[in-house]
Amino acid sequence: MNNDFASIAEFARTTAAGHFNIISLASIDSTNRYAKLLLSKKKISSSAVILADEQTQGKGRLNRYWASPPGVGLWMSIVVEPDLPATQWFLLTFMSAVAVAEAIERQTGLEAQLKWPNDVLIRRKKTCGILLESASVEQKSFLIIGIGVNVNQSEFPDELRDKATSLAIETGKEISRLELFTEILLRFDQLYSSLDSSIMRIWKKKAAFFQQRVTVTELNREFDAMALDVNDDGGLIVDVQGVHRTIYAGDVQIQWRQI
Ligand code: BTN
Repeated sequence: MNNDFASIAEFARTTAAGHFNIISLASIDSTNRYAKLLLSKKKISSSAVILADEQTQGKGRLNRYWASPPGVGLWMSIVVEPDLPATQWFLLTFMSAVAVAEAIERQTGLEAQLKWPNDVLIRRKKTCGILLESASVEQKSFLIIGIGVNVNQSEFPDELRDKATSLAIETGKEISRLELFTEILLRFDQLYSSLDSSIMRIWKKKAAFFQQRVTVTELNREFDAMALDVNDDGGLIVDVQGVHRTIYAGDVQIQWRQI
């Protein structure tokens, strides 16, 4: 794969990408961890974006590892100081997934779908994951939105092959990380400037899994259910043997119905 990271670093140095303050790094343990560190030292603030070509300890949701090899992905964290009550911060998660999905669609022509709470799927396989973390610095609350997009991987290890994909695999061609990166920031900015609960309607239009059987992982237990809806608080409503339950923290695996 052609390593186009130099063009992204150059873009970050020379271009006023909206009002974002972009910090690009060849390698870091985790852009989310680094964003927290810089916030605690007051070296960055709202609108900072940390982008790395490689993460050596990429973090996924639920303490999972996020593989982030060099040259093939977008591993980035966007820092915001939300102008929303804490009860509404979850909207940022859904908004970020919509921003990435729309940016992917514009750049590749592929159809992107969304899976609760914040995965972006292409042809039922995960191409982007989002990890939202919070940090407080002197009475100010920041959110760190970690976005990982599989862009130009040409293959995945056996254990992931059925679940994960990259944009290059799905389009059959190499994708410009610079163009995708700038499109994500642009869309993020547009959606963020008018963010309210209406984002849930947009998210639901792209949701892939309503009326599908799912395996829910909640804390340390798993159960099968039918995914019904997402409520106004971002909770997933499922039907478990005729009883409706709402899940706020956890993960789902879709048991795709054969068509
Ligand atoms: C998931 O489990 O689906 C969330 C994955 C989030 C990965 C991104 S890559 C950039 C940022 N830094 C990290 O360490 N994780 C997030």
